Amino acid sequence: MGRTPVYRVDPRRPDEAVLSLVGAILRSGGTVAFPTETVYGLGANALDVRAVRRIFEAKGRPPDNPLIVHVSSFEEIRPLVTDIPEQARLLMETFWPGPLTILFRRSNLVPDAVTAGLDTVGIRMPDHPVALGIIRHAGIPIAAPSANLSSYPSPTRADHVVHDLDGRIDAIVDGGPTGIGVESTVLDISGEKPLILRPGYITIEDLRPFVPGVMVDPRADGVSAGDGSGPPRSPGQKYRHYSPKATVWLVEPDPKAPESPDVMAERVTRLVRSLLDDAAAAAGRIGPGGLAENHFTKGWGGLKDPPVHGISGEGDASKSRQNGEATIGILASEETERTYRREFPDGVVVATVGSREHLREVASRLFLCLRRLDDAGVDTIVAEGFRPTGLGLAIMNRLRRAADFRCLPECGSAVSEGLAGGGWAGDSRSGFERELNPSRARKVFFVCTGNTCRSPMAEGLFNHLANATWVAESAGTAAAEGEPVSPQARSVALKHGIDLSGHRSRRITSDMISRADLVLTMTTAQRDMLRKQEPSKADRIFTLKEYVGFGASPEGDVASRIGDESREGDSPRKEDVSKEGVLKKNVVWRALEALVDVGDPYGLSDEAYEETWKELERCVKALIQNLGASGV
Ligand code: TXA
Ligand code: MG
Repeated sequence: MGRTPVYRVDPRRPDEAVLSLVGAILRSGGTVAFPTETVYGLGANALDVRAVRRIFEAKGRPPDNPLIVHVSSFEEIRPLVTDIPEQARLLMETFWPGPLTILFRRSNLVPDAVTAGLDTVGIRMPDHPVALGIIRHAGIPIAAPSANLSSYPSPTRADHVVHDLDGRIDAIVDGGPTGIGVESTVLDISGEKPLILRPGYITIEDLRPFVPGVMVDPRADGVSAGDGSGPPRSPGQKYRHYSPKATVWLVEPDPKAPESPDVMAERVTRLVRSLLDDAAAAAGRIGPGGLAENHFTKGWGGLKDPPVHGISGEGDASKSRQNGEATIGILASEETERTYRREFPDGVVVATVGSREHLREVASRLFLCLRRLDDAGVDTIVAEGFRPTGLGLAIMNRLRRAADFRCLPECGSAVSEGLAGGGWAGDSRSGFERELNPSRARKVFFVCTGNTCRSPMAEGLFNHLANATWVAESAGTAAAEGEPVSPQARSVALKHGIDLSGHRSRRITSDMISRADLVLTMTTAQRDMLRKQEPSKADRIFTLKEYVGFGASPEGDVASRIGDESREGDSPRKEDVSKEGVLKKNVVWRALEALVDVGDPYGLSDEAYEETWKELERCVKALIQNLGASGV
């Protein structure tokens, strides 16, 4: 395909001839990018599998991430869904046309390619004359994801689409910059609990009067299993998103002073200074062989060229690049930009996203600014964070993902301090608390009791199967130090091509939990014990099975409700037979345990070890999928 034709139209009164032309392209199975009120979409006939596949190809989008179907009238929905619940109708009447995507039970007319095989289909009616006009002229429902290359920031201008997709799609309709700038809110009212799967322009506060009890899915930020009730409901949650080429660091607002520009400017300045210091230190250690390895060059992967102190002014990044200098960009606000220009007179690339007082402005310029900083050639972007309430939640959702959860001081600290007003599903856990981890690979810790059998097996499996974005370690809650794995565990692993002979057991420490992005225990008792020991890190500690959504998850703290915490892993105890009550509890417990725990094969037959291995393999494979860490 040559260059993609771009048709300019007046966004308020688009030329009918253009609408009719691209309508015909869509009807004949082509792909067309067009503006909506949120971001530019890449449309194709939602009922034509081949056309839909073209979208995935053009974007490089994983096929298991479903598309939103766009319509221009209520009537178009009927054939696409099994029913329209009353609540949905009310939402449609209130918010459509507009940036709210509602999940419906889909009819057979909607191809699997659109829904990624899910039994729901996301539908919305965009509030933009060009989008509506195109859908009307096409006369078919239009599947349309954001018109960017997969994982890159969404496009808010036609030139962003040209940048990403020129030559890969059939037409681009340029209707000028989009107004809102962040994508629609994705709302799932098809399940028991109404959930916002993706925060967007329509806020939880807007929805509450119509959807009592609506929550934001904690997994919307892609880190935790939240309430532990299974795999992400929205497959999009697990993918990298909105990421420019540069490495992004997000500075979270101070929960005590989330609006304060001074506090934010101070935090950002400190971080930029330390990045510059690190870069300068690394430059000092450069020998003829190239870069000295320090955590900056090794872990962050951001500064590939010899980093030298001193960065360029806006639009001047190419100059410093020629000199082999590292460049840092700041995503600033109107209130703080002057501080950065003053603090870094040599020139930091500063992109001003908008006023901290006007989050609509920030939303509308967010992706634009990330792209601009990329175009300026910076290696690292330090982004100001915003109070995660109202529209701020959608902004922070995008920024945290753009930063790949590299947040300072830690992602969601403002939420865990209660700023989000209890809008998160599950409980008070923020779901994505995270500490500064200079390594780019994220870490999962598998935990069992002795660290000689189940957890080293899981570690071995994980490191064998996952790609380099995640790495596993293991430890035990009551482990002796330095023991090898049990002979049976070693032999079953070896049978499956994994050598655990180098492993030595160790006891889990508070420091290990701090270093981990995720701590996965074999049993509920182990989980509860660790959560009790480390309450501030409770939101990264789960049982392996609950995290991947296998087995039922006992409500809350079953371990403490049923009895003491020492039941784990042992055979019936004396008191089980002597006290009827305890015995009963134990029976209930064992039934639950079978569902949620990975049982301990210690002292059992070789077959039991093989069974445990298979069970772990199933869980670890699902885990790797959930974490988006597939493939070696
Ligand atoms: O504002 C918007 O929604 C823009 C414009 C173009 O309309 N579209 C957009 O689409 O952002 P896309 O594909 O970039 O994001 C759609 C999100 C993904 O995270 C996807 O996983 C989720 O919606 N989604 C779509 N259908 C779903 C379904 N049936 N169940 C769960 N999640 C779904
Ligand atoms: Mg998208």
